[in-house]
Amino acid sequence: MSLKTLSNLDDLTYYGKKLLVRVDFNVTIGKDNEIGEDYRIRMTIPTIEYLTKRGAKLILMSHLGRPKNTEEKEYKEEDKIQQYSISDIDIDIRKQFSLAPVAKRLSELIQVYNVSFIEDCIGSLVHKEIAKMERGDILLLENLRFYKGEELNDYNFSKELASLADIYVNDAFSVSHRKHASIYGAARFFDKKIAGLNLKKELEYLSMVKDSPVQPFVLVIGGSKIKDKIGALGNLLPKVDKLLIGGAMAYTFLNANGVKTGDSPIDYDHFQWVKNALSTYNDKIYLPVDHIVTSQSFLDIKKGESQIKDKEKRNEGNDNSKFDLLSSIAPLSPSSLSSHSSPVSLNKGAIPDGLLGVDIGIETVQQYSSIISQNRNGMIVWIGPMGVFEIGLFRNGTNNIAKSMALAFWRGSKTIIGGGDTLSALKKAEVSELEVTHVSTGGGATLKYLAGGEMPGIEALNKIK
Ligand code: 3PG
Ligand code: MG
Repeated sequence: MSLKTLSNLDDLTYYGKKLLVRVDFNVTIGKDNEIGEDYRIRMTIPTIEYLTKRGAKLILMSHLGRPKNTEEKEYKEEDKIQQYSISDIDIDIRKQFSLAPVAKRLSELIQVYNVSFIEDCIGSLVHKEIAKMERGDILLLENLRFYKGEELNDYNFSKELASLADIYVNDAFSVSHRKHASIYGAARFFDKKIAGLNLKKELEYLSMVKDSPVQPFVLVIGGSKIKDKIGALGNLLPKVDKLLIGGAMAYTFLNANGVKTGDSPIDYDHFQWVKNALSTYNDKIYLPVDHIVTSQSFLDIKKGESQIKDKEKRNEGNDNSKFDLLSSIAPLSPSSLSSHSSPVSLNKGAIPDGLLGVDIGIETVQQYSSIISQNRNGMIVWIGPMGVFEIGLFRNGTNNIAKSMALAFWRGSKTIIGGGDTLSALKKAEVSELEVTHVSTGGGATLKYLAGGEMPGIEALNKIK
């Protein structure tokens, strides 16, 4: 990898210099300003420490959520006509999407250095604040996405950001798939632009998965959206020894294989792709042989309950992760179905109409766990939960995969976990981050990278100007 990183520059380069560091502090913040999972914040500490110790002044920048544009993913060309700036943002949105609580958390984590926060990310106020900084000081700027120029990769906005500092650092792997001003456009204005330690670590592990996976290579994939994973699957399938599929996407695979899947959601848009994958890689692909099933109405009730619980208990909880699955399910029988006395059942093979799969079943758990545990000294990559894991009743499969992954790690396999949902699944199973070789901070970025897609954030660091 030709990418320049912090240690490639002489230590003295940083002394007294202003560094503009793109981080990804896009974390969940509750109504009471309580931070949810702070993994992404913690993962930037090595870079922050490295630079502050060498006398740099750190200007950290990040986005948080999708203010204004919550529904649509990206801005369209016509949006350019109506540029908006921070003063146009509604006061409630500014509060809801402010990075101020993150600055507070960061100062709790980094107690030796002074962390401050400023309610803007470009302009004269920011310049004035920076002028006051001493060596080792850290300043977090307000949410970049309060300016439309960020997502539009606007030239002037990029230039304004670049005018804040002498050296550019990208330590935000999880946003490096976005061609945004702070990730791409601003980098062109710097002679010195380098990768942070977390970005470097992400690339080391993920490039190993993508380009030279350790053998034997087991890929465990779950979650619901096939669309997001097709690129990565297409790229990795020729290289894997075994692909274990769970989560909602398994039902599309089963259905394409001619198995009855009842009311489970089927992704017909990608049905043909799935059929082709199954016929080409039939010997490598493992699908669930049994399932935890329930009715849509029971699932909706449980989802409602879990949303209420989440609101009450904002942090990643371990609520009912130790429930007793075997006593809470009953074997499927026509009478239990018609009387609705047992809304959750274990079902082997075909799923009857009126029911849908919400987790892998017990036999599947055993089969998948034993494949994972046989992977001595190889590599296991896990992306996406095995079922509707936010609900305790449907978390058994995901919990067991998490635990098997931890065991495999202790037995010498390299274990790599895709971020987002999979990290929170790990936490719910009470598996520590330290029992995994690498947990990626990225969700979308990880999948795009594994698919061999363009990564503007990395490209920008390699560009000469
Ligand atoms: C993420 O959460 O995946 C990153 O922070 C990128 O956010 P985005 O999907 O809103 O661009
Ligand atoms: Mg995302």
